Amino acid sequence: MSGLLRILFFISTCLILTSYQKFMSKGQGYFNNAKGKEGDEKKTLLKRSLKCYKKALDHSPQETKSFIRTRIKSIKSRLSALNQKGMKNSQSTSDEDKDIDEFLLKESTDVSFEDIGGLQDAKDYLRNKLIMPLDNPSLARKFGKTPVNGLLAYGPPGTGKTMLARAAATESEQASLIQITPSDILSKYLGDSESKVRKVFNLAIENAPSIVLFDEIESLATDRNIASANKRSIVNQILTEISNLNSENESHNPVLIIGTTNAPLLLDSAILRPGRLESKLYIGAPGPRGRKVIMERVLEQRKDVLKEKIDIQRLVELTEGYTGAECIERLNTVFEMGFRRSIEDDGEIKKIGVEEFIKVFKKGDPTAVETWKSEMQAKLNNNSIKDYAWLREVIEA
Ligand SMILES: Nc1ncnc2c1ncn2[C@@H]1O[C@H](COP(=O)(O)OP(=O)(O)O)[C@@H](O)[C@H]1O
Ligand SMILES: [Mg+2]
Repeated sequence: MSGLLRILFFISTCLILTSYQKFMSKGQGYFNNAKGKEGDEKKTLLKRSLKCYKKALDHSPQETKSFIRTRIKSIKSRLSALNQKGMKNSQSTSDEDKDIDEFLLKESTDVSFEDIGGLQDAKDYLRNKLIMPLDNPSLARKFGKTPVNGLLAYGPPGTGKTMLARAAATESEQASLIQITPSDILSKYLGDSESKVRKVFNLAIENAPSIVLFDEIESLATDRNIASANKRSIVNQILTEISNLNSENESHNPVLIIGTTNAPLLLDSAILRPGRLESKLYIGAPGPRGRKVIMERVLEQRKDVLKEKIDIQRLVELTEGYTGAECIERLNTVFEMGFRRSIEDDGEIKKIGVEEFIKVFKKGDPTAVETWKSEMQAKLNNNSIKDYAWLREVIEA
């Protein structure tokens, strides 16, 4: 009897501990463990705790959010005190530097792998090959894994490359994200850009394990044969910094560099070599299940203006070959029409039916993937110097 009671107690505890509570208790566990620890070890535990509390915040009921926010604030201030201490030992930082740090260093992102429709192979690859070493650095080192890894995520526009890279940081239990958009670095003042690049890599080491995301990397690591003098020195600086990271091998936690691009042929070939962005990952249009996830989420968010439950399977069949962005854009076209109709009717909501979606989806073919592939094909044909087997394989498949 007591055995049965114990089982019942266990089951009811599992049911009561909803997901946010599990994250909270996990976060508290890491927080407690951090007490009495020093340096990197303390930092790692606090970071783990922070991530758990952030996940708890996402899933918690309204009345608990303020408590969790206070907790997050307290962990952040402990972390920043630790970082300050670390930096004082290496270099002093000005107020201006601190502003740049805060701007580039994203504590958490608002997307996770669950938000991304399809791309299962890409998610598995990231999780198993690249995120695991970030979250288990000492084990990875023992098994001979290098602490610096690089990935080029390439493919047509609107396939979710940027989203995927940001979600990788959420997926990792420990890694901080440093996200760089070309305009963050490009500056009209000569020399300025190089020092910003240096800053980015210093931040990456200080906050390791970390992910450095160079979004639209072709604008920064541009082929030096066609780049302006200013851009050439940025490419050189990036290459130098990556080499430095590699040569400091033993002394820092792992860093993952991810570059995303729609225009891989504009890249300087040196950035693609081993030790730099060595892995290449094609990100293409999602399959039927992926399109279902993407469209279902949008329809769910706006269900108040839908006439009926939309037959999603029908929309999935009509969107063969569409990128995620194209699916969303077409749905938005229909919502825009409904909005205008409602405004014209003095703000009375004019609900949207499935046939309106079908009409818009039938109107034209998707273009992003096809256009991109034929552009790449033409460029590869004209370019005998660059032998990008990984790109040819994708284009000619
Ligand atoms: N696989 C996907 N799952 C969910 N949303 C997607 C997906 N692909 C694209 N999107 C949508 O398209 C938008 C553009 O995606 P983004 O990551 O910027 O594409 P890329 O960097 O490949 O050009 C995203 O904000 C998202 O709304
Ligand atoms: Mg992008």
